[in-house]
Amino acid sequence: MVIAVDGPLASGKGTIARALGARFGVPHLDTGALYRAVAVAMLDQSLPPENADEAERVARTLDVSAIDESRIRTAGAGVAASVVSAHPRVRAALLDVQRAFAAQDGGAVLDGRDIGTVICPDADVKLFVTADEELRAWRRRAELVNRGEEISFEQVLGQLRQRDARDASRADAPMIKADDAIELDTSEMSVDDAVREAIKLVEAKLG
Ligand code: DC
Repeated sequence: MVIAVDGPLASGKGTIARALGARFGVPHLDTGALYRAVAVAMLDQSLPPENADEAERVARTLDVSAIDESRIRTAGAGVAASVVSAHPRVRAALLDVQRAFAAQDGGAVLDGRDIGTVICPDADVKLFVTADEELRAWRRRAELVNRGEEISFEQVLGQLRQRDARDASRADAPMIKADDAIELDTSEMSVDDAVREAIKLVEAKLG
């Protein structure tokens, strides 16, 4: 069983995908972490994320097992990840590892932007998680501040709008709801409610 969870940043897709993995006993892959790790490796080497050749090289040599969670979760890594992820050759370099994860015996849950459209077009269940823009900015700011990053709401909202626009408008695998995806708007929901609703949707779809 493969579950695809897509949506814009801070929509709740990561939390939902992790919870679905636990509930249905399948491993979960946060595919945004791959793009974030490429971005951090570029910044570490003082390479601009706009450099497609170098970004591809970094993506091809990425050690997926050595991703440092604390370093990829900063706001700067998110912005740079959005830039590197727009290079088609970076996306191509990260395709196999994602497809292989999805092909595991017993299935998997993957979350990202293009799981239902490009990575796993035949997924058994596809969710597209959304939430009000300002609410997402408040959520993301709270996460960043909790991790010790000092950043204003306005700054987070600005980055969020810029990233959403870039992720949705790139030519290769843009963030878009798959035709057969179920939309879940978490604006009015607590985390627990959103997870419960997602589980219900998956169970209904699987019959
Ligand atoms: O989900 P996230 O915020 O960790 O993702 C970081 C960036 O990576 C996001 O701005 C766009 C890119 N991304 C992507 O292009 N495709 C995916 N499947 C996941 C993330």
